[in-house]
Amino acid sequence: MVMLPKPLRTPLLHTLGCELPIMLAGMGGVSRHQLAAAVNQAGGFGVLGMVREPVERIRQEVEALRAINDGPFAVNLIPAATERRLLMDQVATCLALQVDAFVFFWDVDTGLVQYLKQEGKQVIYQVGNQRDADLAQSAGADVLIVQGHEAGGHVRGTTATLSLLPQVVANSDVPVVASGGIASGGAMLAAFSMGAQGVSLGSAFLATHEANAHSHHKQRIVDARADDTVYTTRFSRNWHEPAPVRVLSNAVTRGDYDEADPDTCIGEQDGQPIYLFSTDSPLTGAQGKLDDMALFCGQSCSQINAITSVQQRIDTLLDEVHIRIAALYRDSR
Ligand SMILES: Cc1cc2nc3c(=O)[nH]c(=O)nc-3n(C[C@H](O)[C@H](O)[C@H](O)COP(=O)(O)O)c2cc1C
Repeated sequence: MVMLPKPLRTPLLHTLGCELPIMLAGMGGVSRHQLAAAVNQAGGFGVLGMVREPVERIRQEVEALRAINDGPFAVNLIPAATERRLLMDQVATCLALQVDAFVFFWDVDTGLVQYLKQEGKQVIYQVGNQRDADLAQSAGADVLIVQGHEAGGHVRGTTATLSLLPQVVANSDVPVVASGGIASGGAMLAAFSMGAQGVSLGSAFLATHEANAHSHHKQRIVDARADDTVYTTRFSRNWHEPAPVRVLSNAVTRGDYDEADPDTCIGEQDGQPIYLFSTDSPLTGAQGKLDDMALFCGQSCSQINAITSVQQRIDTLLDEVHIRIAALYRDSR
């Protein structure tokens, strides 16, 4: 049983059924069962990043996660970025597997939210602006994740986490989770003090032993400073629109490939080619020009100084929260 400081004991724990108000962000390719299980085992909420994955992989990952532990988890899908037939098959597979919760992102698919609510499922929507928050809530979402502009990966909005968060909290009847810019106890406490009931961490969990990211990607996050990240639309292959992402600066973001043939193959992953400008980040086993791939990373890298286990990462976060609370109390006397 984890000793939780008071600001972290929120109703979200009851909603999600976990001990800690810390969620794993659904990172495509990176958040597989080993990582989700480790977050579960440390007391947090596991999320399998299954965007555009074939149904066989979803089945394998859900079964593998359940074989390790029985903690609460969700499957993350991105409806707008997934071909409709595949999306319907993904959802049907999750229902057949009796998956209880879903995390969705990007355009709000109100019909899908309503359908899953009728099926008795929990729906969590990651949003990056007030309009999406309102849409998701009126469709029936149980929890909102507010993603700020600092976030790594695809970035939905243009407002910083600590500016968007209190506004969405003020306009919501459901628990709100903060995401983007958070990889330390201090940042967590800031989010909780502005009304968040939980946090959803991407980069902080990518830089762990259990994440399915390539070690080059993990090490670059550890080495990076906040201003080494770039907000760009250069990585748009495999996505339905030229959407902005936050990545670590590399040859692509510097424009070195601007004149290159977009069909240039720069590496391979699991026997499949990885093309220039692809949104596929290098996973374990990737080969080729790793540094020229999409190295998704949030500005939270300023708070990430080592590749650790998930348990160590969470222990450090909680220690930092305790230290910050003690310091605030001591200094206010
Ligand atoms: C490598 C990586 C991949 C991501 N892939 C997804 C995804 O597939 N689905 C999704 O909803 N969000 C995705 N995101 C965004 C996260 O959900 C979250 O908003 C972001 O990681 C928060 O910022 P942080 O990295 O600073 O914690 C991704 C983020 C990263 C870093």
